[in-house]
Parts: sequence; structure tokens; C-alpha cells
Amino acid sequence: KSLRKAVIAGNWKMNKNRAEAKALIEEIKPLVKDADCGVIVCVPYTNLETALELCKGSNVGVGAENCHWAKSGAFTGEISADMLAEMGVEYVIIGHSERRQYFGETDVTVNQRVRAALDAGLRVILCVGELLEQREQGITEEICAMQTKVALQGVSEAELERIIIAYEPVWAIGTGKTATADQAEEVCAFIRSVVEKLYNKKAADALTIQYGGSMNAANADELLSKKNVDGGLIGGASLKAPDFAAIVKAAS
Ligand code: G3P
Repeated sequence: KSLRKAVIAGNWKMNKNRAEAKALIEEIKPLVKDADCGVIVCVPYTNLETALELCKGSNVGVGAENCHWAKSGAFTGEISADMLAEMGVEYVIIGHSERRQYFGETDVTVNQRVRAALDAGLRVILCVGELLEQREQGITEEICAMQTKVALQGVSEAELERIIIAYEPVWAIGTGKTATADQAEEVCAFIRSVVEKLYNKKAADALTIQYGGSMNAANADELLSKKNVDGGLIGGASLKAPDFAAIVKAAS
């Protein structure tokens, strides 16, 4: 079991209209109210207001799924970190592989968004992870080290306390193909060693490193039994309250 308090975050991706979001959060809240781990729901921009209202005074934190790097300006269709912070949003996912894959996100823009989010006072869930062909080429560690190092450029040790890293092997996302607990542990431990080199042991030991990729009620126990896996970033299984709550229970 992890040495740190685990954090379970749902990433709803582009799912749930407002009525569905309301119903899902209302179902989740009582199921997770006694959780002995952090609980977060990251929802589409259009559901943030609903989520914030419903989660007020509860143990469920609310996050967005992305933010822009600029404070304001001519960026049609984008949302700034300040706009999120002003609403009362606490978390933001940055660098998700779907953003990297479909929206041209690079390590450099991930770093810029991380900076913007920290400057706005937000907490960040920073996603890193290798593609299948990179794993097969034996360069998983190089890829995860590079993504982590570039993303954390210009981030102070104090600011690192507002960052969670999510290790999400891209081949495990939405595929039903979960990394084995040993694979998850190996890379989460490796990422921690990268952070230790960048900062120090104390900062690395305090960092929450989640696993993400087809985590569900059936495999959560095993994945979360590892000492460097400090929770999960959950896609598909976060869209059903009983499944999400079962993962929260496994982390508690
Ligand atoms: O960010 C969570 C994620 O990408 C994993 O998705 O559906 O495989 O749990 P899923």
C-alpha cells in the first residue's frame, strides 16, 4: 500500500450533459463521504458550475480537464486558468495524452499550461506516459523522464506541493488493457526518482503519483497495493457511481 494518502480522481472526458452530471455527482457523494483518500471529479467546462455547487461542503474536489497558458487574449475557444480559479475550481488536468494526441499538445505547451495553472493558484494533475511503440522500443523511462522534466521546468519545490502526477501509459487508456500492478509500480517509482533528482528526496516522497489506464473496481485493489501508486486517474469507470465509489473504497 502507498506510503502517502491516495487520491482518486475521475476524468469524465467529453461525457455527461448537465442533468447527467448532477445525477452522477448526487449519486457519488454519499457513497464516498467516509473515504480515507482524496476524491476529485474532473468534468467538462460546461459542468463545472453544477459540480462546484453540488460538491460545496463535501469531501469531493472539483477539477477541469485543461486550461490555456495565457492569462487572456485572442485564443478563440480556450479557457484560462484564471477563469477556472475565479469560479472556485481547485484542480486542472494538464497534458492528458488525448490532448497530446488530438490537439497538438507538446511537452513545452504542457509546461506553459502548468505554469499558468500554478500562477492562478490551481492544483495540477499532470499526465505523463508512453505510447505502445515506445514501450516496445524500451524507451518508457526516457519518455516519462522527458515529459516530467519539461513539464516541471520553472516549478519551485513549494509549487510542487500543488502537483499530482498521473502516470498513464497510453496503450492502457480506454482499451481495457490495464498495466500490471508491477508495471505501474515500476514506472511510478521511476518517475519519483526523476523528481528526486530534480528536487530532493523529501519533495519526491511527498508527491502523489497516480496510475491511470483502465483502472476499475476489479483491478483497483491490486494496483493500489503498490507502494508508489498513490491513487488513480479514472476515465470510463468514473462515469458510474458504484464503480467509482468501489475504487475510492479500495484506496481508503
Ligand atoms: O485520464 C484517465 C484516463 O485516460 C484513463 O481512462 O477510461 O482507461 O480509465 P480509462
